[in-house]
Amino acid sequence: MVHFVIVGLLTIASTYYLYSFVLTNSNLLPVAASAQAEPIDKLFEMHWFFLAFFFSLIIVFMLYSIVVFRRKRGDTAAGKHFEGNTTLEIFWTLIPLLIVVYAAYQGVIALEDVERRDPGALEIKVIASQWNWTFEYPDVDGAVSDVMYLPWRKQVILNLESRDVIHSFWVPEFRVKQDILPGGSDFIRQLRITPTETGDFILRCAELCGTRHSTMLAQVRVVTEADFEDWLANFGECETDVECGQALAQQYGCISCHSIDGATIVGPTWQGLFGSSVTLPDGTSVLADETYLITSISDPNGQIREGFFPDIMPQNFQDILTEEEVGQIIEYIKSLSE
Ligand code: CUA
Repeated sequence: MVHFVIVGLLTIASTYYLYSFVLTNSNLLPVAASAQAEPIDKLFEMHWFFLAFFFSLIIVFMLYSIVVFRRKRGDTAAGKHFEGNTTLEIFWTLIPLLIVVYAAYQGVIALEDVERRDPGALEIKVIASQWNWTFEYPDVDGAVSDVMYLPWRKQVILNLESRDVIHSFWVPEFRVKQDILPGGSDFIRQLRITPTETGDFILRCAELCGTRHSTMLAQVRVVTEADFEDWLANFGECETDVECGQALAQQYGCISCHSIDGATIVGPTWQGLFGSSVTLPDGTSVLADETYLITSISDPNGQIREGFFPDIMPQNFQDILTEEEVGQIIEYIKSLSE
């Protein structure tokens, strides 16, 4: 009997330590910054409790038995033989069964909570491509951004689509995560997020999607609803072609591969590009003039520069950008050679 009391107390102490002390002091989870994070964290804590309890039960029992019931010096007799224990078997079948049913029930409740749809939710289109993120705000014509602005305490519905391969939308602070599929409108996936903390977060791609998967990041900025409306109302205002080109280069993620400071990221830098002489793999040179730049945007594989690779740049800018927009981007590239 005394053995059971000791094992029981040790199990309770160990469970308490693993559950509450480790959970609160280890920073296992980042800040919870969305309404959806709450039910998910509750589920996590429930599972953590069961894990802490069963881990403690097994380890305490085992270590206690190894130490207390070890073979005494000079004891050569064989151990007592046991066979079957119906009561024990009923208990260790029934208790885990009840726990699994309870966990499933809690899971369904949490899922319902996470997927609850607010009537006034704001829709945002999220486009993933190798290897950047673009956010479109359908309420304002032409509002396309490479930074994701979200209004505080207002639910947003993200319509997620991919231009090429499978990506995955993941902001750890929001907890929820969703794979993004290529294939057009039939394969759009939705995710609901209600930000509860203002500030900056990092969106990361959580599906291995190619050589630059690890750099597929975007800034997420949660601002008050008033600031959000302001940002949306003044969206994309530009006066000169150079300014508009710069905005476009940011929106379409050009500058995540083409640096503007001379560094080589993935593609050639834009600094000093216009008017320079570009060497092609066959050793010949071409002048980087307007014609060359227009071709490079609409048919990136046409005249690959020495030392760079085909099929890295999206091949569909011809369909996405208007002629005017291409012209503005080229004006911006020109301004980087002045
Ligand atoms: Cu996109 Cu990994």
